[in-house]
Amino acid sequence: MTSTLAPDLAQYLAANEKKAHDELFELLRIPSVSARSEHVPDIKRCAEWVAKSIRDAGMTAEILPTGGHPVVLGEWRGAGKDAPTVLVYGHYDVQPAEPLELWTSPPFEPVTRDGRIYARGSVDDKGQLFLHIKAIQAHLATRKKLPVNMIVLAEGEEEVGSENLERFIGQNAKRLACDYVVISDSSMFAPGLPSILSSLRGLAYFQIDVQGAAGDLHSGSYGGAVANPATVLARIIASFHRPDGHIAIRGFYDKVRAWKPKERQQLKKLPFTDKTFLEESGAPATVGEKGYSTLERVWARPTCEVNGLLSGYTGEGAKTVLPAKAMAKVSCRLVPDQSPEEIQKLMKAHVAKMTPRGVTVTVQHLHGGRPWRAELDGPLFDAARRALKTAFAKEPVIVGEGGSIPVVGDFQRILGAPVLLVGFGLPGENAHAPNEWMLEENFVKGARAMAALWDELRGGGR
Ligand code: BES
Ligand code: MN
Ligand code: MN
Repeated sequence: MTSTLAPDLAQYLAANEKKAHDELFELLRIPSVSARSEHVPDIKRCAEWVAKSIRDAGMTAEILPTGGHPVVLGEWRGAGKDAPTVLVYGHYDVQPAEPLELWTSPPFEPVTRDGRIYARGSVDDKGQLFLHIKAIQAHLATRKKLPVNMIVLAEGEEEVGSENLERFIGQNAKRLACDYVVISDSSMFAPGLPSILSSLRGLAYFQIDVQGAAGDLHSGSYGGAVANPATVLARIIASFHRPDGHIAIRGFYDKVRAWKPKERQQLKKLPFTDKTFLEESGAPATVGEKGYSTLERVWARPTCEVNGLLSGYTGEGAKTVLPAKAMAKVSCRLVPDQSPEEIQKLMKAHVAKMTPRGVTVTVQHLHGGRPWRAELDGPLFDAARRALKTAFAKEPVIVGEGGSIPVVGDFQRILGAPVLLVGFGLPGENAHAPNEWMLEENFVKGARAMAALWDELRGGGR
């Protein structure tokens, strides 16, 4: 049976397309950068804006404090006790926009070029959160009701590690009790190809500081006779991998659950080539752990990556200095059943073992998140397959993901509800980078798909 989007919903969404577009642009103009304290007022303003848009959609909305940035909680519980309850999660905070000079148009002045909406947060995650609000509105505006009870949880600190959300969910577990969680904060595998996520990697993020002399020294007077923190740090970093790409931290792979041959086989059916992967990324070649394909390296295997380095003189010309300190930001992407707590122990032990005389080295764990794999069966996933096919006229594919959404594992663990991850971004969308974009068409079709989903979940299609 082919399903279609109910005509009343289709008509409402079409008639209000321009309005939704203008409202999304308003949301994108708010620089809700969670990492920077100077943006705290913008975060607050953004939370208020999201709360109002949820109310305009016909739900109640409250702004609830956490230890950090506030959560916006929307509720509509008119479907009755026998109807399932769905929690839609998204985040209204965004990554910093720097380096600003690399943006073609300013990050917080959204514009449409070639059918793409360019702005920081367009795809990660404001556009995707907002399309859910518009899908809900289509139901409540046309029918005064939804087929399911609905909770919308919009977070303000996903991009800084969701430090306070786990506790928030625990403390509000009764109120957040639900049968299903739905999240749109990821991408489709290829243009026009709707995708359901089957996995996310976890994260363990570190800062490594190497301290040598009390202050910078003349590299002629002291060089060769005291330790150089930059050299020490370079050696530590180099020790993370073997030449074949395998991570050399003792015990690192002990908990890694290998993908089954059948699952590895299925990856090969996806429309993927290293060539397009390289075009998208602009990298000259793929490299990585021996024995694994590119998709396996990104989805099924853990990593240890340097995210930033700082030491010594980096200004114009030459300066003969022996730096007093060196610092690196390093993060490991994790796969089931690795845990951030355990990786933290292994990393600290490894660095301690690699620390020579003449320096002190500290390793701080900045934040972590658990990896996740989905059970892709049950009514929600069947309904999602039908709803995506309705909106995109194509059968969805099941894909993995290399990125992390720390809260997904918490939802599953604390609320005991299965999580559906269905995203409307695209490869090359520049999330976290200059010139982030979301395809306008995916915003429109995403809203249609999510409007169809709530009918599909209750009625099994029309
Ligand atoms: N939306 C992303 C997660 C994601 C990344 C989904 C790539 C699909 C593809 C999310 O906003 C994000 O950036 N997560 C961070 C988590 C970190 C800040 C704890 C990440 O993956 O780096
Ligand atoms: Mn995101
Ligand atoms: Mn992000």
